[in-house]
Amino acid sequence: MRDHEGQEADRTDGFLVLFDRPINAVRYALAFHQAMRILSEEVAIDLGFRVGIHLGEAVLIVTPAADVAGGAKPLEVEGLAKQIAARIMSLALAGQTLLTRAAFMLARRAAVGDEGLQWLAHGRYLLKGVTEPLEVYEVGREGLSPLAPPPGSEKIKPVVGREMSAMLAEAYRRKELLANAGQSTRAVEEEILSLRREIRRGRQLRPGDMLHGDRFLLIEQIGSGGYAIVWKAVDLKSGGDVAVKVLRGDRAQDPRASERFSRGARKMAELQHPGVVRVVETALEDDGWQFFVMAWAEGGDFRQAVLGQRIPIDERLRIVLAIGKVLEYAHTAAVIHRDVKPANILLDGNNQPLLTDFDLVWAADTTGGTRTAGMLGTFLYAAPEALDNPKEAGVAADVYSLGMTAIFAICGRDLPTRVIRDAKRFIAELKCSEAVKPVLLKAVAWEARERFASVGAFCAQLRRVLEHDGEPNRPDVVPIATPQ
Ligand SMILES: Nc1ncnc2c1ncn2[C@@H]1O[C@H](COP(=O)(O)OP(=O)(O)O)[C@@H](O)[C@H]1O
Ligand SMILES: [Mg+2]
Repeated sequence: MRDHEGQEADRTDGFLVLFDRPINAVRYALAFHQAMRILSEEVAIDLGFRVGIHLGEAVLIVTPAADVAGGAKPLEVEGLAKQIAARIMSLALAGQTLLTRAAFMLARRAAVGDEGLQWLAHGRYLLKGVTEPLEVYEVGREGLSPLAPPPGSEKIKPVVGREMSAMLAEAYRRKELLANAGQSTRAVEEEILSLRREIRRGRQLRPGDMLHGDRFLLIEQIGSGGYAIVWKAVDLKSGGDVAVKVLRGDRAQDPRASERFSRGARKMAELQHPGVVRVVETALEDDGWQFFVMAWAEGGDFRQAVLGQRIPIDERLRIVLAIGKVLEYAHTAAVIHRDVKPANILLDGNNQPLLTDFDLVWAADTTGGTRTAGMLGTFLYAAPEALDNPKEAGVAADVYSLGMTAIFAICGRDLPTRVIRDAKRFIAELKCSEAVKPVLLKAVAWEARERFASVGAFCAQLRRVLEHDGEPNRPDVVPIATPQ
């Protein structure tokens, strides 16, 4: 706490700490969450702490030293600011750091240059007994923080669409009054703008909505990640099914997220290859929604197909090898996928694999420096160097991820964390031919330089050992046909 110039004030109702600057409170909160995350893992209990940061005036009553020595609290804090901080804290989700407006604005300004931080606006919330709604914000890191609007409670509720529209109507009324009185309407105009922005952000797409005029009819939400939501939709121009991937409304405010999103779509469109999901339309925008459109993959994703036992074991490694071909091709185009995993491999109607989700791609010709060092993708499939420093993730990172995907394909179940704690043992216990094991082990070596030098080298070796494996007493061995 001293590192961040905090002063402990109270620990009866939660834990109250005073800071001179909001940024110190933010840094302390994030360090605290991080430490608790590590502790949670050690004791295997989820210690989800909640933090609320508010900037306001408080009365401090300092207890004389003699009384402190006698066991009295050193510092007493009184004032509305304390209540608000407590309420904001109570609103937070486990692991979340919420802030009110002024604290957020000042901290964000002070944090310029800290690339890893995410700053989100979650809209207005109404505190019980307070008429003016509070704007609630969040700061956090990907992989560490929820980065999602808290649902609220009986005591503190999100202000929903209809109330927001009423607030907007009321702001227009005030603007008119001011204009009629010949006064400046600048402040109220700003308020109107921010309300309109928020109404748009808070809105959700629903089945039956149309995007791009009346071309794409949304049918069903099928995937929902931190950045985007994937919809099954009908392209009314062609009559065919498509997948529409929409950037989340609360992410659209962040230029880096929006840039990364459209870059992913662009890369996917550029990589014209039968093993890459076909992009129908790149980078469209409609009424504030940023989205792109892909061909619909009838077979769903590889993870679901394997877990649902829809693919016979002898086809799973064929699929992994076919994805290897796609990666080899991408690498020749200087595109590193960096998020290869079963959920990012889709299947068409004939179980032909299609690589997707190039949001994290980093072509050698872009700076690539805009990403957080936090958790990207599902961490079990991500190479250690990709987690440490995304910039360092090269071809070897894709070799690692494809290796993990092959392990998943053989295992047939979601991989447990011990696959990275003790890869050697986990692979040794797999039910497959012995000859395959050292190949897998080499692909997922902790050190990048100990892996295969290329995806091609890994796949060639894997194919070789699979083809030469004909031991009849191994019914669970995966016979493999060479992919075209
Ligand atoms: N073109 C598509 N056809 C069918 N399902 C898809 C398609 N694109 C995505 N999905 C489904 O949605 C999920 C999430 O899509 P993805 O592009 O990986 O988004 P995210 O960035 O959220 O991981 C996929 O794992 C898959 O199940
Ligand atoms: Mg994905």
